[in-house]
Amino acid sequence: MIGRDLLGIEDLERADIERILDTAERMREIGEREVKKVPTLRGRTVVNLFFESSTRTRASFEIAGKRLSADVVNFSPSSSSLKKAESILDTARTLDAMDPDAVIVRHAVAGVPKRIADELGAPVINAGDGAHEHPTQALLDLFTVRQEKGRIDGLSVAIVGDILHSRVARSNIYGFTKMGAEVRVAAPPTLLPACETLGVKAFTTLREAIEGADVVMALRIQTERLQGSYFPSVREYSATFGLDRVKLRYAKDGAIVMHPGPVNRGVELSPDLADHRPSVILDQVRNGVAIRMAVLYLFAGRRRRPGLAADAPAGGGAE
Ligand code: CP
Repeated sequence: MIGRDLLGIEDLERADIERILDTAERMREIGEREVKKVPTLRGRTVVNLFFESSTRTRASFEIAGKRLSADVVNFSPSSSSLKKAESILDTARTLDAMDPDAVIVRHAVAGVPKRIADELGAPVINAGDGAHEHPTQALLDLFTVRQEKGRIDGLSVAIVGDILHSRVARSNIYGFTKMGAEVRVAAPPTLLPACETLGVKAFTTLREAIEGADVVMALRIQTERLQGSYFPSVREYSATFGLDRVKLRYAKDGAIVMHPGPVNRGVELSPDLADHRPSVILDQVRNGVAIRMAVLYLFAGRRRRPGLAADAPAGGGAE
């Protein structure tokens, strides 16, 4: 049963995921029309509250909201009262006082969307929080695989790269295992957390992980979260874990290549593979709009009744 907020794939049942994917199928059709707009969310307000940079997620939530006729407000931290030392929670409470129907939150620190959700009346959608979760990315990845392969159940999915710092890996591990796929992960030992308890097989070589895989997902090396040396050099990482057409031969014939973006060309993927089939990177981006339309359709308007939100102290935030 889908709750008020979308904070992580961990909280969803398989039936919830299927409902979101099925709704996205209908939303995709709207994006294929000449006039890509329906009145479904007319009169609703969606706030994009991004404290960390984003191209795909932020733009696709904005486009998704506009295709559904919602009023979309893009909050910009650099020109907000955060610059006058207003706290994140006070900023969120202030925006919530204007009665939005959904608030989309991205933050570099894990748990911030949950903390904000605990305070607000509006439903909160997690658009990526630190190394915790990125639920709409996993949903669009599941949607893309289902589109390409016709199913998810029984597929073998290899996720390769910086598993330790990746919210995309975590959300996809939950998503693909809940949907019946076998998930393998591969990384240098320093970037591989203990994740067998999540029901995945872990490897420290690329070949073991992608052997016979239907889907190979490369992850971005997250230099902003890498403090210290996790591998000898980028060149060495690229030689051992970077995917190219030669290494891809270990995967199953017809395997697709995915990447959440942004891609470090020549590091996680060879440029040729990044740009051409079997890479489906731009399909992932395109499907991101349909998934976010589905999420806004299903979650916007689940506002908590006035009085049920936690009492917000006037003016004095803790953070
Ligand atoms: N995949 C992803 O989250 O990309 P952005 O950081 O550009 O939103």
